[in-house]
Amino acid sequence: MTPRDLGYWGASRVFKGLSESHSINEITLEMPGNDATETEADLRRLPASRVQTAAFYEVKDLAAGAAVVLLTADDPRLVMESLNLQLRDALAWETQAVAGGFRTRVVLREETEPADVVDLLIRDHRRVDELLAKALRRINAADVAGARPLVAAFAAGLRRHIRVENELLAPMLPQPAGQDGTSHVAVMLREHDELLAQLAEIEASLAFDAAPEAWEVEPFVALLSGTLAKHEHREESNLFPHWAAALRQQPAPARPALLARVRAILEATET
Ligand SMILES: [Fe+2]
Ligand SMILES: [Fe+2]
Repeated sequence: MTPRDLGYWGASRVFKGLSESHSINEITLEMPGNDATETEADLRRLPASRVQTAAFYEVKDLAAGAAVVLLTADDPRLVMESLNLQLRDALAWETQAVAGGFRTRVVLREETEPADVVDLLIRDHRRVDELLAKALRRINAADVAGARPLVAAFAAGLRRHIRVENELLAPMLPQPAGQDGTSHVAVMLREHDELLAQLAEIEASLAFDAAPEAWEVEPFVALLSGTLAKHEHREESNLFPHWAAALRQQPAPARPALLARVRAILEATET
């Protein structure tokens, strides 16, 4: 069984058991089918004001399959949350109180099993964002042909994501309102229409037989990128905390079933 089979928490127990028998700073764990490197950084003697910067340099280039263990004198919860914001939700971590401080094992979030449907949606936000960002970079380099497959993958991904939110989750999860009484779900649905309209403009601009010039397409892609970032931020700040709380109240068998269904739609194994 590999760490991936066990999921993050199981994997972390396997690594922990092995790593605690080592006192050197960097060890390579030989595990069947998974060569993982675990690096340990002892930040306990640093002044509190320097811990976050030091931790950032330890984790910023974290690679797939690798882990960084941070030893800190103080509870690193706020430091980790701040680092994770800096790195756009790329991190997953587990902290334990140990003699002399705290031990935090950090891995890439994509290496771990999603905790719930909301976690899966947030990861999907980052995935579609990256596809559009890559398309925009190609267009800015005057490579419209290179941008086409990226726009196509983005469009398919965005439509699947919106389908999950509109058709599967909105009807079954709470419809909370903001302080001004506006429904967060109503805002979400309206913004989805806006996103799809902007996407249609891009697809139309790329659909001409004669390849368009990059400057003809770029404003549409840049506009959609900005609209999407604001939309995702609003969902993650206003709506998703309510949905996550409702999902935690679901009976145990319903949770993995819904997670599997959402995953199948997002990964296009269910049409
Ligand atoms: Fe959305
Ligand atoms: Fe979303």
